[in-house]
Amino acid sequence: MKLDKLIAWLREADAASLETLWREADSARDRHVGGQVHLRGLVEISNHCRRSCAYCGLRHANAKVRRYRMSPAEILAAAKTAVGLGYGTVVLQAGEDEALTAPLVAEVIRQIKSGAHTGNLAVTLSLGERTEDELALWKDAGADRYLLRFETSNKTLFKRIHPPLPGRNCRRIDILRVLRDLGYETGSGIMVGIPGQTYEDLARDLATFVELDLDMIGLGPYVPHADTPLANAAPAEKDQTPNDGLMACKVVALTRLVCPDTNIPATTALSALDPISGYEGALTRGANVVMPNLTPTRYRRFYDIYPMDRGGCGGPVTFNKKIRARIAAIGRTTATGRGDSPHYLNRTGVLRVGQRPVGGVVA
Ligand code: 5AD
Repeated sequence: MKLDKLIAWLREADAASLETLWREADSARDRHVGGQVHLRGLVEISNHCRRSCAYCGLRHANAKVRRYRMSPAEILAAAKTAVGLGYGTVVLQAGEDEALTAPLVAEVIRQIKSGAHTGNLAVTLSLGERTEDELALWKDAGADRYLLRFETSNKTLFKRIHPPLPGRNCRRIDILRVLRDLGYETGSGIMVGIPGQTYEDLARDLATFVELDLDMIGLGPYVPHADTPLANAAPAEKDQTPNDGLMACKVVALTRLVCPDTNIPATTALSALDPISGYEGALTRGANVVMPNLTPTRYRRFYDIYPMDRGGCGGPVTFNKKIRARIAAIGRTTATGRGDSPHYLNRTGVLRVGQRPVGGVVA
């Protein structure tokens, strides 16, 4: 799809036309990745962060955050919970926390991968901008996937909202290439409606997904956090993209059309804006993954990236029941197994020509 076509869809306001977009995205989702929804257990292992991103509540400069770091034993216990709930993947996410040293993280990965209960879990890491040596060590230890959003393809906007560490460049696109070369199943994504983001920027973000040949693409609406500089950003200009659920769903649908065999989550940020039907909205417009939160309840409210009700959905067991019922109610099933990205399986040649992945499993 050309940039001007993407921009036209992003600006589309006609309900009947949008129905066509939703139908096409849902059909592409069905043909390329199947009807199953993959559940990933998300464990927010630390909210310490050395960075001071203008949009994120966990920014180093925010002294109001109560900081925590889970112990390896606590992380292992959460991985066991993931298995107990029938999930095939555990996602370890944190701020850029230097105390999560490369050897420490490698040891946690090894313990998960060698555990009697947890050994079959796919391990996804989302630990920020780390060095090639660290990423290589974790791959050797058994990590399968890595998530690092490039947030926006507009370099000026990115610099404004994402100050580099002193004396270093921000090089998320370079890191994404490194991850791919190391053999990771690679995920990235953006926020929709960042102050200063235009429709053309969003269209270029979609083109960048294609260019980077990503396996997983996560995106959600930007949600202002009162204790961050971006919450006081100047009022929107005329080309400003809205940070609402409709805009985010348009980007989910277009992402499915331009990168049809990727795994795309219905993200928590979407659900934060619309707790009643945020997940369903994305799942019926191109998404095929949900990431239930398994962070121990005593830490969860401190992982305050953006404001949302972090206690309202109950603990992991309650949420698991609810989300499975909600998925069944839209006529979909939940997958078992790792749920690798069909795009990854295709590009790494795990699938022979003519074979079609169904729910991430070779048919
Ligand atoms: N609103 C929405 N998403 C946010 N993220 C961080 N802060 C916010 C916010 N205020 C997203 C970023 C990051 C991911 C972990 O969370 O895209 O990559």
